[in-house]
Amino acid sequence: MQRLEIKGGRKISGIIEISGSKNATLPILASTILTNKKVLITNVPIVRDVETMVELLGAIGSNINLDKKRKKISIHNKKKLRNFASYRLLKTMRAGVLVLGPLLAKYGTAKVSLPGGCAIGSRPINIHLDALKKMGANIKIKDGYVIASVKKGLKGCIFKFPRISVGATENILIAACFAKGKTELKNCALEPEIQDLIIFLKKIGCKIKWTGKRALEIIGVDTLKSTTHKVIFDRIEAGTYIIASALTNGRLKIKNVNLKIMSAEINLLRKMGVKIINKKNYIIVSSKKKLKSVNVETKPYPGFPTDLQAQIMVLMTKSYGISKVKENIFENRFMHVSELRRMGANIEIKGNKAKVFGKRKLNGAELMATDLRASVSLVLAGLVASNKTILNRIYHLDRGYEKIEKKLTDCGARIKRLK
Ligand code: EPZ
Repeated sequence: MQRLEIKGGRKISGIIEISGSKNATLPILASTILTNKKVLITNVPIVRDVETMVELLGAIGSNINLDKKRKKISIHNKKKLRNFASYRLLKTMRAGVLVLGPLLAKYGTAKVSLPGGCAIGSRPINIHLDALKKMGANIKIKDGYVIASVKKGLKGCIFKFPRISVGATENILIAACFAKGKTELKNCALEPEIQDLIIFLKKIGCKIKWTGKRALEIIGVDTLKSTTHKVIFDRIEAGTYIIASALTNGRLKIKNVNLKIMSAEINLLRKMGVKIINKKNYIIVSSKKKLKSVNVETKPYPGFPTDLQAQIMVLMTKSYGISKVKENIFENRFMHVSELRRMGANIEIKGNKAKVFGKRKLNGAELMATDLRASVSLVLAGLVASNKTILNRIYHLDRGYEKIEKKLTDCGARIKRLK
């Protein structure tokens, strides 16, 4: 099992290029099930989850090719795809459930493994299934699989999401593109990755428009076009490296970012005393030694992203005073806290609230990664801890961060991957 060894104490300074967004790439890939035309997707992050999605689509017969060197994926589905997505592939990448909507819309049947829970929560898909039922699908759960069918194709409907869900919005949005008639979706998630998915879907000929703040109208179509699409940058990766630089009092140039879609994160970091200068398509990050404590609540976009909660908590351990974190999205997203405590952090947890006592000196330790974002928060802690940190189970990290040790080592970090 691979591990990372991190020797702390170095400033993170230099240049980092942000990769394409994993969470935009995955739904875009799933939506290619709809089309028999040639599609080229560029600026794709070479991370495990994307490779798993490529493997899943290949397993159902998609004519898909991942060019790792050029970070491009070409797809040209000429024949009918199989409608079965196995547990083997979905157990490591929950976003595989995003093939359910397009398979059902295109072929009228689908058998997709229930994704199951993960470290951060039970992660049900009841909302996905309720919406598909509203569109006329017959849904059964058997032996851990969703078995879905619809005789004469999905029908457009009016559906209000009972709670804001990124995945459910994506799954139903894609399905509605091939449903008969008009679909109106209300209380949709607005994440930039969903906006990028909509840009892609419109480029291949889907009829989608925003009719209100969280309201979408989709008119079903049955033929699509070829296109080339460049995936949006990864705002969570960008936020992670901003924090890495601020933590270590470095001076970092971060390229390929657009702060317009990161207002909540940038405002909070600036409030803490992180200096972020916004240039045309890069930013310069530096920070005062004395960072201020802040309070933050995770919220659906445009609120502060839950995917940056573990990372900002590490910065809070260095700031002056007591900071508070409220995790509103997932029921168990403080898995990093017990590991940070073992490094000397002083963090109190009460339900979905955390109290982070600042000005703490962190010491290196042997740690266990539990989920993607908790893992990266432990890398950040290792960068600023005295002596050595060993991080186990870094396959979690490899799911969503492209070349993290190279990007950080090139900026002064002492990180090496132990076989
Ligand atoms: C997406 O997960 C992201 N994953 C997550 O990023 C991200 O944390 C999350 O959105 C919130 O922003 C991808 O895009 C691949 P949700 P998703 O549906 O779609 C509950 C990362 O680190 N819910 O918005 O699964 C759910 O349990 C990952 O890159 C239901 O109850 O998140 C959660 O509490 C982690 N029933 C809340 O809604 C449902 O049918 C929000 O989940 C669906 C969701």
